[in-house]
Amino acid sequence: MKDYKEVINNRFDAETENTNSIYSPNHPIGKYIRKNLHKGLNMFLQNYCKTLRGWDLQTVTLLDIGCGSGEMLDFFISKGFSPQNLTGIDLSETRICRAQKQHKSVNFIKDDALTFSLKESKFDMVTAFDLFSHLSKKEQILQGLSNVYIHLEKDGVFLWYDIYSKDHFSPAQNADSWGFNKEQMIHLCKETGFEVIYYNTFFKHFFNRYHSVYQVKRLSPGIVNMLEKILPGIPGNVLLAFKKI
Ligand SMILES: C[S@@+](CC[C@H](N)C(=O)[O-])C[C@H]1O[C@@H](n2cnc3c(N)ncnc32)[C@H](O)[C@@H]1O
Repeated sequence: MKDYKEVINNRFDAETENTNSIYSPNHPIGKYIRKNLHKGLNMFLQNYCKTLRGWDLQTVTLLDIGCGSGEMLDFFISKGFSPQNLTGIDLSETRICRAQKQHKSVNFIKDDALTFSLKESKFDMVTAFDLFSHLSKKEQILQGLSNVYIHLEKDGVFLWYDIYSKDHFSPAQNADSWGFNKEQMIHLCKETGFEVIYYNTFFKHFFNRYHSVYQVKRLSPGIVNMLEKILPGIPGNVLLAFKKI
């Protein structure tokens, strides 16, 4: 697995706007991924943040680490979060510049998830979407998680979304990133001092082999959604929410 700084230099900093990428919002695969993730996150915001915690989303402060161009922050704004209460951090100069251009009221910072320090600032929520899969060593992951912990209010919520992998520490050779399984994420977060409050999976490797999102190239999203319900398989992506105790 490559070092995250090398991946950022070669992939995220070097990228030019690629509107044809299969993960872009206008590609059927990109659309399918977003629709399902947004649905899952919406359920969490409704059932946990609003109903159980009684949060008024307009006043909730949120830090998105590894925010890229700020796409996930757009989702939170669409759910009622105030742009002024949002902060995004990313180590890619290219992505942070693009995020700043597109979101004038959000606070963006170019920094490393492992070492950034926002002094006394603490947040109600911290999120990391597809970030930790880029960190290859356990010490780096624990350092990143400790930094999440430090920047959360007491009882604050950490949302960790990542691709699924049986074992993060046995990556394919030369892979840019490698995911986690539920037990591994829980173990790492418990070491940091978090308590699990929510778990959800997204997508499926049908028969432990074919990732559902790529079937959207051949089948309609409705059919793939239905197959997700009936076919056996392991998760494609996982979302866990933790509380700082
Ligand atoms: C796969 S992208 C996900 C972007 C965004 N979270 C989303 O879901 O749309 C991973 C992002 O993490 C950033 N990243 C990777 N390692 C990082 C680190 N150590 N500190 C800050 N950002 C990092 C990359 O620059 C990239 O923008």
